[in-house]
Amino acid sequence: MRITIVGAGFVGLTTGVCFADKGHKIYCVDMDKDKIAKISSGVPPFFEKGMESLLKKHIHKDLTATTDLKEAIKNSNVTFITVGTPFDGKQIDLSYVKAAAREIGSALKEVKDYHLVVVKSTVTPGTTDEVVLPILEEASGKTAGKDFGVGMNPEFLREGEAVDDFLNPDRIVIGGMDAKSREILEGLYQGFKSIDVMRVDNKTAEMIKYTSNSLLATMISFSNEIANLCSVIEGVDVVDVLGGVHLDKRLSPIMPTGERVHPSFITYLESGCGFGGSCFPKDVKALVNFGENRGVRMEILEKVIAVNNNQPFQMIALLTKHFPNIQGLKISVLGIAFKPGTDDIRESPSIPIINELSAKGAAIKVFDPIVQAESNETFKDLNNISQAETLEDALTDVDAVLLITRWKEFEKIPELLRCMKTHPLIIDGRRMLKKSEISKYMGIGLNQIYSSS
Ligand SMILES: NC(=O)c1ccc[n+]([C@@H]2O[C@H](COP(=O)([O-])OP(=O)(O)OC[C@H]3O[C@@H](n4cnc5c(N)ncnc54)[C@H](O)[C@@H]3O)[C@@H](O)[C@H]2O)c1
Repeated sequence: MRITIVGAGFVGLTTGVCFADKGHKIYCVDMDKDKIAKISSGVPPFFEKGMESLLKKHIHKDLTATTDLKEAIKNSNVTFITVGTPFDGKQIDLSYVKAAAREIGSALKEVKDYHLVVVKSTVTPGTTDEVVLPILEEASGKTAGKDFGVGMNPEFLREGEAVDDFLNPDRIVIGGMDAKSREILEGLYQGFKSIDVMRVDNKTAEMIKYTSNSLLATMISFSNEIANLCSVIEGVDVVDVLGGVHLDKRLSPIMPTGERVHPSFITYLESGCGFGGSCFPKDVKALVNFGENRGVRMEILEKVIAVNNNQPFQMIALLTKHFPNIQGLKISVLGIAFKPGTDDIRESPSIPIINELSAKGAAIKVFDPIVQAESNETFKDLNNISQAETLEDALTDVDAVLLITRWKEFEKIPELLRCMKTHPLIIDGRRMLKKSEISKYMGIGLNQIYSSS
């Protein structure tokens, strides 16, 4: 198939390179000229494992990056919409989706053959049928269901594992306005290994995506609420508590061989300094607003957001337990990315933490294996922030270290500390280190400072 992808961002480019790898001819369209120039030169505009090699393999062969949407659509049979759907503070912002639909509709005027338009962006239920479809009809002067079809194909990839997740999906949700739209959309996934395919209408496809993200976000906030309670119960550590919960055979089943399976699902039942990224926060908020507009109060999801908004400040609370006055303290922050494996810092808990430390007058050193804090727009107005070149440098000559992102590299901390004469207080925001291996340790969901010496 010949496929146009409108929005060559994280999801769009991943979709593009992966479909190209499955033998389709791809046009990745973006309005950002610099992004298109970068992609055309074989360099992905973001960090993601496996992305660069796939892009280099397909660019100028099966994959063309362009700003010319009309030409791309003229040459293809299917168009995906993969533009951003941010939260505008009150509700989902559909302006990018609407603009993309208008441009696609206008391009469809000049297309003779039947064309399928698929929404892959995360949009609230009803958007594909009630917003995108009418815009396409109006801008093209054509009729949906006759001249073109409209589908909805939510994306479940995780940043950090995007290429692998796309190529090895756990489910394929095929939404469509009619059987023909669904059939063409499903055909695109023929080269993928056999996996559960759900054929549904567009609204159900949209709702599946929101429900999936809301469930995972709820599990995280639930674990964090339990952690916050554990932190005021002397002698109780949330790691032991949730570790005991994980052993429920409905969460980690025991096989007939006696071996226990630990599904990655239970990693969402771990405590930490909060979730971030471009999806969970905005999607949960958009669903709460969607319910509100229909007279349904989503009370659990409201609290999921409230718990998450406070969670980064638990790190500051732990710090002030040991150092009541932060002014003039030398603090290292480990990890800026919202999760390991990505350079995406959107809604990362590191941002409120760094801002708060800065406002309270700390001298901040930052280390992330991929993200450079100094050159980052988000931190440009802070003047008491510097970049540590190495993890070792970040651990040296500071009073405390706040571990924010679960980067694998940080597992080396105990080993590095063993070679140092003086040790900072380590505050583990992901509970990824063994407290017994660190001389001065505090963590989310742990009542007091743990001293191994
Ligand atoms: N990032 C994720 O992990 C992830 C996972 C699943 C679903 N999603 C959803 O996918 C959608 C896209 O997310 P993303 O992270 O890839 O966003 P992104 O911001 O990385 O990319 C969006 C791209 O669309 C481009 N764009 C906007 N309007 C355009 C137009 N009219 N024509 C051409 N290009 C246009 C922008 O320049 C940008 O490059 C969102 O709805 C998001 O919720 C994201």
